Amino acid sequence: MSKVKTSFVCKECGAICVRWSGRCLECGAWDSIEPFQASEVDGDDSGRMSIDGASPSAAPMAEISPLEVPRIPTGIGEFDRTLGGGLVPGSAVLVGGDPGIGKSTLLLQAFSALAARGVRVLYASSEESAQQVKLRAERILGDVISTKRDSNLFLLAETSVARITNEARRVHATALAIDSIQLVHRHDADALPGSMTQLRRCCLELVQFAKTTGTVVMIVGHVTKEGDLAGPKLLEHLVDVVLSFEGDRHHAYRLVRASKNRFGSTHEIGLFEMTGEGLAEVDESVLAAANATEPRPGTAIVPVMAGSRVLLAEIQALAVAGFLGSAKRKASGMDSGRLSMMIAVLEKHGGLRLADQDIYASVAGGLRIVEPAADLGVCLAIAGAHLSRALPPATAVLGEVGLSGEIRPVRNLDQRVAEAIRRGCSSVLVPAGQADVLTRRGGGIVAIRSISQALELLSPVARLN
Ligand code: TYD
Ligand code: MG
Repeated sequence: MSKVKTSFVCKECGAICVRWSGRCLECGAWDSIEPFQASEVDGDDSGRMSIDGASPSAAPMAEISPLEVPRIPTGIGEFDRTLGGGLVPGSAVLVGGDPGIGKSTLLLQAFSALAARGVRVLYASSEESAQQVKLRAERILGDVISTKRDSNLFLLAETSVARITNEARRVHATALAIDSIQLVHRHDADALPGSMTQLRRCCLELVQFAKTTGTVVMIVGHVTKEGDLAGPKLLEHLVDVVLSFEGDRHHAYRLVRASKNRFGSTHEIGLFEMTGEGLAEVDESVLAAANATEPRPGTAIVPVMAGSRVLLAEIQALAVAGFLGSAKRKASGMDSGRLSMMIAVLEKHGGLRLADQDIYASVAGGLRIVEPAADLGVCLAIAGAHLSRALPPATAVLGEVGLSGEIRPVRNLDQRVAEAIRRGCSSVLVPAGQADVLTRRGGGIVAIRSISQALELLSPVARLN
């Protein structure tokens, strides 16, 4: 018989305390402590109870046999790549992202693909009726009729977590999707669906269900205004894999990234495009116009790393006359602090006067770049836009820009250069310090020492009209 214990949990940081207080002692947030009733399961409530209920004993590492991680590939290549090869039985996966970004669509597509290959799956929707889900499935799957798929894909509209898990047991589902955790609840928890208590209880129950039955449980969570996944960090600790959608819903391209993965790398990303028939896998060539033949001022092509692969991102900039002292700087798809820094470097070491220019910089296609390796590309795009000058066509740019105007080395240079050339770039600007390793590649590699040297490569372009 499990004992019910009341403790208090901070909804900001998830800290547990024995008595209520107005301010969390861990994170210092005010008015964030809520009562939380946890039933004690085998002395811990972390969701990691042992499968047979017996308490495990410590053993020397030499005696522990290596874990063979079996995988269930969904058949959607980009999704499997993000997961590290497929779904792991008994794992809990949290899928997060802004509303309307495509979480339900992706899960339904993955589950349909699994069902078509004979895997029994249950898609439980707490937001839509079974008919609505079927309508969506028909839209995604078009006219392709597959009796194997339709008999293995089970749909359920339900908000009670107990009934969902019961149904999953009854139909012997290998994978279970909960769309979304915000609206499911447990009857015995005296709180509204979506509240801290409900989220934690339901998620814990689902994680335990996954561990004890070996079912893959995929949980959809919404993102809060602050950009955290449902229930600040709390759910992320409970699950094995956290997938998040990047990009925004107004862009066609969607990136799925594993921000936590107990069974694989967190560097891989999946690239999709939202089409009229659901999410389509796309390859990285759609992102940049590397084979443009005309020089275009205000643009630069930068090979950025996304996990183990290289994407050619196109950085675009615009400079227009503004007011001295209140010039605008707007960044989209990159860090705005970094943009201001690049503008300052261009002023100081590149000899440009940008203080009265409104400057906009963005990454085409909805990609987000966090790497400093794109610095030189950002600088050349801004300088090009301001001076109406352009790099020679099909030139890729790599290099971190230091505050004294020097170009610093970047990681994975060899791989990036190889990919840029493979995708049709005829020359690549690289940091001078790393250029010798590349000389064996022959022509096309230009060593850059400083920002002022890079600016000399921009040449005037006849204005259209
Ligand atoms: P959805 O998967 O419902 O998003 P989420 O579950 O993350 O809130 O889908 C979001 C958007 O995608 C929705 O605005 C409609 C659009 N969409 C398409 O463009 N094509 C499609 O085939 C589908 C199913 C949706
Ligand atoms: Mg949805």
